[in-house]
Amino acid sequence: MYQLEEETEADWWEVEALYDLCFSPGRTALSSYRLRDGVPTVAALCLVMREDGNLVGAIRYWPVEVGGEDVLLLGPVAVHPTHQGEGLGGLLINESLAEARRQGWERVLLVGDAPYYKRFGFWKLEGVEMPPPTNPDRILGLELKAGAWKGVTGKVTKAAGA
Ligand SMILES: CC(C)(COP(=O)(O)OP(=O)(O)OC[C@H]1O[C@@H](n2cnc3c(N)ncnc32)[C@H](O)[C@@H]1OP(=O)(O)O)[C@@H](O)C(=O)NCCC(=O)NCCS
Repeated sequence: MYQLEEETEADWWEVEALYDLCFSPGRTALSSYRLRDGVPTVAALCLVMREDGNLVGAIRYWPVEVGGEDVLLLGPVAVHPTHQGEGLGGLLINESLAEARRQGWERVLLVGDAPYYKRFGFWKLEGVEMPPPTNPDRILGLELKAGAWKGVTGKVTKAAGA
């Protein structure tokens, strides 16, 4: 029996351990982490999935800006290797994106594999620059409001005030 809940402070290190397991050990050296340093998550969108109390998946979001516009940075998202391919990743992404839309977020950004994320409607963004080194083919966007990425280009920066 799966439980999907908002991440709490008590979940933080367990989620970190899941990410360490699912990603390469140097994950925090990735440039996208520099946008997260010292910035609180968008807590209402960070979800944990448990099975009988055991953490099997998690997704987090941070606020960033592109050209002065608010953007939601999706990730990291990970599912425990013993539960991959069961649709949990899709569930975490779809549920959190639906909540993001309800909360009024207009556009989402992530760095990831287009072949996976295109099923959620993400496409390669042109003219949006992550801190180097980032493969431009992995910079993907999604509109939660029609036209929200139109004319929004430039460097991705930390959220204002962060
Ligand atoms: C990527 C991840 C979150 C997907 O979660 P999941 O629960 O396994 O995914 P789902 O069950 O919702 O979807 C499975 C489908 O996604 C595909 N898929 C998974 N990772 C993929 C990738 N990197 N590229 C292309 N397709 C991928 C599977 O082949 C499968 O395809 P199918 O539906 O045609 O059979 C999970 O595999 C994971 O944690 N991977 C390691 C960490 C990671 O890479 N996170 C994403 C970083 S951007």
